[in-house]
Amino acid sequence: MKPVIHLESVTKTYHVGVGVTALDNVDLVVPEGQYLAIMGSSGSGKSTMLNLLGCLDRPSLGKYYLGGDDVSTLTDNQLSEIRNTRLGFVFQSFNLIPWMTVTQNIEMPLFYKGVHRRQRRMKSAELGEMVGLGDRLEHRPPQLSGGQMQRVAIARALSNDPMVLLADEPTGNLDTQTGEEIMGVFADLNQRGRTILMVTHEPPIAAHADRVISLRDGRVESDVSDYYLRDESHG
Ligand SMILES: Nc1ncnc2c1ncn2[C@@H]1O[C@H](COP(=O)(O)OP(=O)(O)OP(=O)(O)O)[C@@H](O)[C@H]1O
Ligand SMILES: [Mg+2]
Repeated sequence: MKPVIHLESVTKTYHVGVGVTALDNVDLVVPEGQYLAIMGSSGSGKSTMLNLLGCLDRPSLGKYYLGGDDVSTLTDNQLSEIRNTRLGFVFQSFNLIPWMTVTQNIEMPLFYKGVHRRQRRMKSAELGEMVGLGDRLEHRPPQLSGGQMQRVAIARALSNDPMVLLADEPTGNLDTQTGEEIMGVFADLNQRGRTILMVTHEPPIAAHADRVISLRDGRVESDVSDYYLRDESHG
């Protein structure tokens, strides 16, 4: 399998008075179709890593290849173009637009891409169906449950057919059962070949992934491919 993501000796340093090394010489290769969870305690570098992987920020040192292209030295505009065309984001807080309908939220990225209205509608209805919201397409976020809102966010993240789906604590605002349902949606997507990177601090959530890396002080402390077999994942 060819790598979708390749981090080569990536270091990220923040300078706020003193320098903080949030990521310290990290190497990571993610093959196409992999479902990777990133764990680690608070301050270990998870968000920093996801921000780099999501082209929201650049490494201080080292290289990042996304789909084979070096994206470590692009300008802000180029990074934003990469985000819009190659990446899909799901957040803990859903980040939906409250006055827009489910379909309008899902088709937002296509609107910015300049896709024609009728085509947008077709695609957003199809994605809405796929995440199980076929009967909620005209609802607005305040009329939905948390799990339903996260399904909308997932459909929106998929509308530009991204190379990678990035999720930062996607179950963080959901109860255990709803979180498991969202993990069911991710499992389906991954089964259809979607590459997924997910940050979580919950072992039972990480256990859904094929591979789990744990960060500690900005370094990869462990990298496990049969994580779900391990005792501590069954919290
Ligand atoms: N914008 C920033 N400016 C300065 N320091 C930062 C910045 N963002 C993060 N840091 C520092 O980098 C380190 C890693 O932070 P990061 O947010 O990546 O951790 P995290 O693993 O996501 O933690 P949490 O589980 O609490 O979200 C921390 O020491 C943090 O204080
Ligand atoms: Mg974080």
